Amino acid sequence: MTAEEILKQLSLKEKIALCEGRNFWETKAVERLGLPSAFLCDGPHGLRKQEGSADMLGVNQSREATCFPTAVTTGASWDVALMERIGEAIGEEAAEQGVDVVLGPGANIKRNPLCGRNFEYVSEDPYLAGKMAAGMICGIQKNGTAASLKHFACNSQEFSRFNSDSVVDERTLREIYLTAFEIAVKEAKPKTVMCAYNKINDTHCSDSEELLTDILRREWGFDGLVVTDWGAMNDRVEGFKAGCDLNMPGGSDYMMKECLEAVKDGSLEERTVDVCARRIIEMALNVQKRPHIASDKEAHHALAREAAEQGAVLLKNNGVLPLNENQSVALIGAMAEVPRYQGSGSSHINPFRVVSPLEAMPNCTYAPGCDERGDTTRAMLAEAAKAAESVDVAVVFAGLPERYESEGFDRSNMKMPEGQLQLLEEVAKANPNTVVVLCCGSAVECSWDDQVNAILYMGLGGQAVGEAVKNLLYGRTVPSGKLTESWPLKYEDCVSSSYYGTKDAQYREGVYVGYRYYEKANIPVRWRFGYGLSYTTFVYSDLKAEKSKVMVTVTNSGKVAGAEVVQLYVKNNGSGYRPIRELKGFSKVFLDPGESKTVEFALDDRAYAIWDNGWVIPSGIYTMQVGDLSAEIELIGEKISLYRNDWYGKPQGTPSQKVWEAMLGRKYKEKIPVKGEFTMDNSVMEMKEHSLIMKIMFWAVESTVAKSFDGKKDYDNPEFKMMILSSAGGPLRSMQISGGMKGGLMQGLLEMANGHYFRGIKKMITG
Ligand code: BGC
Repeated sequence: MTAEEILKQLSLKEKIALCEGRNFWETKAVERLGLPSAFLCDGPHGLRKQEGSADMLGVNQSREATCFPTAVTTGASWDVALMERIGEAIGEEAAEQGVDVVLGPGANIKRNPLCGRNFEYVSEDPYLAGKMAAGMICGIQKNGTAASLKHFACNSQEFSRFNSDSVVDERTLREIYLTAFEIAVKEAKPKTVMCAYNKINDTHCSDSEELLTDILRREWGFDGLVVTDWGAMNDRVEGFKAGCDLNMPGGSDYMMKECLEAVKDGSLEERTVDVCARRIIEMALNVQKRPHIASDKEAHHALAREAAEQGAVLLKNNGVLPLNENQSVALIGAMAEVPRYQGSGSSHINPFRVVSPLEAMPNCTYAPGCDERGDTTRAMLAEAAKAAESVDVAVVFAGLPERYESEGFDRSNMKMPEGQLQLLEEVAKANPNTVVVLCCGSAVECSWDDQVNAILYMGLGGQAVGEAVKNLLYGRTVPSGKLTESWPLKYEDCVSSSYYGTKDAQYREGVYVGYRYYEKANIPVRWRFGYGLSYTTFVYSDLKAEKSKVMVTVTNSGKVAGAEVVQLYVKNNGSGYRPIRELKGFSKVFLDPGESKTVEFALDDRAYAIWDNGWVIPSGIYTMQVGDLSAEIELIGEKISLYRNDWYGKPQGTPSQKVWEAMLGRKYKEKIPVKGEFTMDNSVMEMKEHSLIMKIMFWAVESTVAKSFDGKKDYDNPEFKMMILSSAGGPLRSMQISGGMKGGLMQGLLEMANGHYFRGIKKMITG
């Protein structure tokens, strides 16, 4: 039967029901019509297929799969073809495990280093994030598996993630936060897009027709299916009108009731429901046509290793690296034995193998020096110093322990654990040849960098991290990764540091995100965006620039083969509200010693455009910068004045609320939930301070969650914290869906929280 024929056989109620998940991971099947269900599964750097108890936080067991490095590392490879190969491998494992839709990649912007999910995202730069996401989508979809580009959009903080409001002006939205999605949608045609939990300018993403239909479908030509993030559906009627097709992980009685009533009273047309239902039918019919594939695990492990090697960034090297086989080496730090190779949360994979650095380099001396939490003791430090003294080179493994970074919450500062810092100091004092291997999903403060001789940043290197570290340290692979985010000297240097992490995300800095800010405000950073060293050297020559084409020759002038990431920045020399330069092209080239290659970049209008009620090119002289070369071109475009006599013309420090409001064009006031006005969008956590019933609910949720943690309310455990924040911290509407609660229970409790006890009891009883 065709999608249309199936649709015609369904009643209105069946169609609405089809637009909600059958269970945590599957869409509904209609057996009498031969419509199969589709299986959706996280994502994004491997599969997390749960066949027993399901959850969205990666807590319960999932099937074994290959754990590739997370996007912080794969992104730093700047290698689109590599992303595609990783995507293809994940698509193969999906076909093997019967997974139809892979929930990834993520294309959210790293707006602030503290975001708990930065490890899952590629970059602070939308062009790079979009291109890399496109590569991965093409790979995943090669065999017919569907990818789900997420989280659309402006989802760059974990604090209050289910109902925070991203308050952002149109220009910033377009130039920074939507561009990555736009590139990925247009270039890779993902079969599905996942809408984010948050609101944008007071409208939930799931309710936003502007976002999900006007921009995504009409402007960008997306013809796939929109799925909610798990529990993100705000208002089902508005969701249908917006083009939000699939409500995961399921619907709720009250949403069904509202939809039926809305169709009855004419405020929702049945054909609007048909459009969404048709897309779900088409998706389920299409993915089922995929061939079954047996994936090659060993090849995927080797690919995970290659990805970790290509994405590792050499941040410092005073000549101690690469090591030679005759040197004696000590591995120091618990992370050498128990590596940090992935993040916590929905992306948490059950790898079929993990190779630690210690396993990969068994002949080295080893001293833990601190524990996995980053805590240390005098005895541990002394043992580590002794080990360091006894060898030619000491390699310290440090970074962020698991409990520091996770989905569900943001970090509270950019610091590494105190115990690790003490360890670094002791080891560096004991051995002048100290190398640090950094393992963390986002930038950390590194004021210790001048105490050590070399720093190799692995990000979160996936299941083969140990082998990759070995190959890089010994020069069997030459480091070629480049940073995809700026590393500030200290957190306070970050533009949003003083106002990031409040319930509403105030995008006050406008387009000045990452290097766009540091360069414009002339703030020194520890390591800049695009930075990374090599064991060889490269020379650039013959730069030729036209409006739509830039060519440059790169030569490997060193003694070993290696790869260079050729980066093209377009610099404008107008002043005013505009970043000084922006990345508009990149290409990774592998070169033998003495070898040269010519790289060609094709540029379109967007390389020069800004958003001003549409894309426009300001007239002027533009400078094309590649490596240490530059060439100017003149463009006749629009005569636009970007002059601003305020923070945006000359950013320095924090933009005040007042100056931001002037740019935004309206006043901003945070909406604080108050008793009497609570809605299904408020969480137990938000309401508990004002309502006894919610206090009791919170206690009940906490105690229930604690049962899975030996009865302990352990807020130091990222899984416990994440579960509390995702249950009691989620709006009642998503608690109702995720908890599979029936009838009017939640609405009854809501009435009570608002002080209407009798009405509440009635709602609970009558549903
Ligand atoms: C996450 C998504 C994930 C989904 C399903 C959500 O909490 O935000 O990224 O795909 O859960 O696990």
